[in-house]
Amino acid sequence: MKTTCLFKAITLALLLLTTSVTQAAADKMLRISTDNTDLILHVVSNSRIYQTYFGERLTDPSALSYGSNHREAYQGAGYDDYFEPALGIIHNDGTRCTILTYVSHEQKVIPGGTETIVHLKDEVYPVEVILHYQAYTKENVIKTWSEIVHHEKKPVTLFQFASAMLYFDSNRYFLTQYNGDWGTEGLTNTQELFFGKKIIDSKLGSRSAMYVSPYFELGIGTPVSENEGEMLLGTLGWTGNFRFTFEVDNEGVLRLVPGINPFTSDYELRPGEVFTTPDFIFTRSAQGEGQASRQIHRWARRWQVMDGEGDRFTLLNNWENTYFSFNEPILSNCMHEAKKLGVDLFLLDDGWFGNKHPRNNDHAGLGDWQAMQSKLPHGVPGLVDSARAAGVKFGIWIEPEMVNPKSELYEQHPEWVIQLPNRKTYYYRNQLVLDLCNPQVQDFVFSVPDHLLRENPDIQFFKWDCNSMITNAYSPYLKEKQGNLYIDFTRGLYSVLRRLHDAHPQTHMMLCSGGGGRCDYEALKYFTEFWPSDNTDPVERIYMQWAYSHCFPAKVLCAHVTNWNSQTSVKFRVDVASMCKLGFDISLKRMSEQDQLFCREAIYNFNRLKPLILDGDQYRLVSPLQTDHMAVMYVGNPSPTPTANQDREPSAVVFAYNLSPRYGEAIQPVRLQGLNPLSRYLVREINLMPNQQSRLSCHDKVYSGDHLMKVGLPILSTRRFTSTVLQLTTID
Ligand code: GLA
Repeated sequence: MKTTCLFKAITLALLLLTTSVTQAAADKMLRISTDNTDLILHVVSNSRIYQTYFGERLTDPSALSYGSNHREAYQGAGYDDYFEPALGIIHNDGTRCTILTYVSHEQKVIPGGTETIVHLKDEVYPVEVILHYQAYTKENVIKTWSEIVHHEKKPVTLFQFASAMLYFDSNRYFLTQYNGDWGTEGLTNTQELFFGKKIIDSKLGSRSAMYVSPYFELGIGTPVSENEGEMLLGTLGWTGNFRFTFEVDNEGVLRLVPGINPFTSDYELRPGEVFTTPDFIFTRSAQGEGQASRQIHRWARRWQVMDGEGDRFTLLNNWENTYFSFNEPILSNCMHEAKKLGVDLFLLDDGWFGNKHPRNNDHAGLGDWQAMQSKLPHGVPGLVDSARAAGVKFGIWIEPEMVNPKSELYEQHPEWVIQLPNRKTYYYRNQLVLDLCNPQVQDFVFSVPDHLLRENPDIQFFKWDCNSMITNAYSPYLKEKQGNLYIDFTRGLYSVLRRLHDAHPQTHMMLCSGGGGRCDYEALKYFTEFWPSDNTDPVERIYMQWAYSHCFPAKVLCAHVTNWNSQTSVKFRVDVASMCKLGFDISLKRMSEQDQLFCREAIYNFNRLKPLILDGDQYRLVSPLQTDHMAVMYVGNPSPTPTANQDREPSAVVFAYNLSPRYGEAIQPVRLQGLNPLSRYLVREINLMPNQQSRLSCHDKVYSGDHLMKVGLPILSTRRFTSTVLQLTTID
């Protein structure tokens, strides 16, 4: 009897407690804001939390409480929703339902904005989820991720683990994606979304972005256009398998579920272990994609990219010049050519290592990171000395996550390799991927750049390559937990990169993956830049650099002048590379004296204009997808004012390219953007061939910003594969 009474009393107390929590929780409004955006969440009477508004920032306070409670902020699977969930857990008792209720939230100031942290829990199972939303006020960027933890007796299996969820209300939705392959990165496609799902995903593991990049644009109501319309630009910071699910439901609402791809990744999560999802980063614009790109560029440089506001090195790479055939005298000559060109650094590419299995082609040596005695008797220190003697900085290529079966590393540690124990091994580029799930392998991968830097503190730059996707997917380390392979591999990579960054914070690194197979904002925390494609044909690069510019600032896009499409002039190739982070991968022997003189002048101009090109606001003026031309400009940040430029530094630079215009095509003037209409600008053509005069009627003339933006400048022509570079200097 007593026990029953006590039980009833406890039950009643618990009931009261639950009710009071519920009442306290209900009707709570959480406002996540930037200067132009509001994302509003509401906790309603069932204690669950819903997205009630996402759009242009609200000015009327009464509008804040409006909205429907159908769009759960982080939907669990298996209960009262019939579309794509954010979270799926197989609990210890085999049930697959999780319902999250609100516990509490807090908002705190972070550098650049505010972070909103929302604590949720399941009332039946000991599962907790924390949602994070970091709103960067001025840049209008929101970064969101989730943490999942449980205290069940045994591990649970996660089968869905989105970073976040977002909902959109419109009659029509248009998705733009960026896909491709080796040499065709950055193809752009737009499609309308109707009832059902569209998925963009990667299953490649290490070389994850080889077929599709981890970013997209969403036109809300109309297809995305450069300067008009409501749209969202979104990207996932994850250097592994990613997935964006877009699902239009029965009411015409679009839900977006971004995150790690759960493909063959049923993840075993131990009690108390925190599963942190990658960041989903997004920015919305009511004035088209141009504004969205500028917002994410500013955010990236200020808050995300390694040394995002620092300087970048111009360089000469030897890959396309020598491939694997070099020795010390050849490299020393390259270093002197780098000096002659006027670039900052010489970058030695693949082929410098391996002794028992020399790396003279891509069949052997990966894994054996000792300088090849036959090619380089004085080792890497000898090369660093030669670079110093030539007067340039030194950088070096590594691919430390990979191994050739023909290597001492493989002979000594076959158990360090991702490889199936019971099937014939499949080789991609004759190599295999090291098992970064294994902490010993992480130590080894870390040791490759770390040893090089300890032996040669003067190494200033790494090109970190990754030429294979994960093949033969089996981690010897994880044994029966193979569902964790793709996720733990990527986390292993981050653990190495974090260690490296902590140990050598100054070293610049280029992220490369057989071209643009890796390009995401989490990797860019550790890399100063990335290699968009092995295809350096300047005509192709115009399209690629246009595509990548939607998500990434020019500062992180490496663009090298090479012999691809050598029918085009050196000037054209240099002008194309100069709109991003300029480099060279070419022998001076392949250039005339005139071309060499031109290059030196263009590098000098690039260095002078770096504050604009790499750190200014980018305006895409003429699309190569809609015309036979392309034009882009960079404006000093902050925009020039009549009094700001006493020292007459240029305040804007314009790049214009003619691709394959038709005979007699009517050419439109290029209308500039981002200028002060009241200022007057001196327009000057630069990057002219030696002894050549500008043929432009606007050269060395003064125009108002108003004129330049409304009337424009006649700088395009019907001459195929030609280019024009202009600098604009504010004169009053
Ligand atoms: C990849 C890179 C190239 C070059 C080679 C070297 O393909 O994308 O730039 O470094 O590897 O093997």
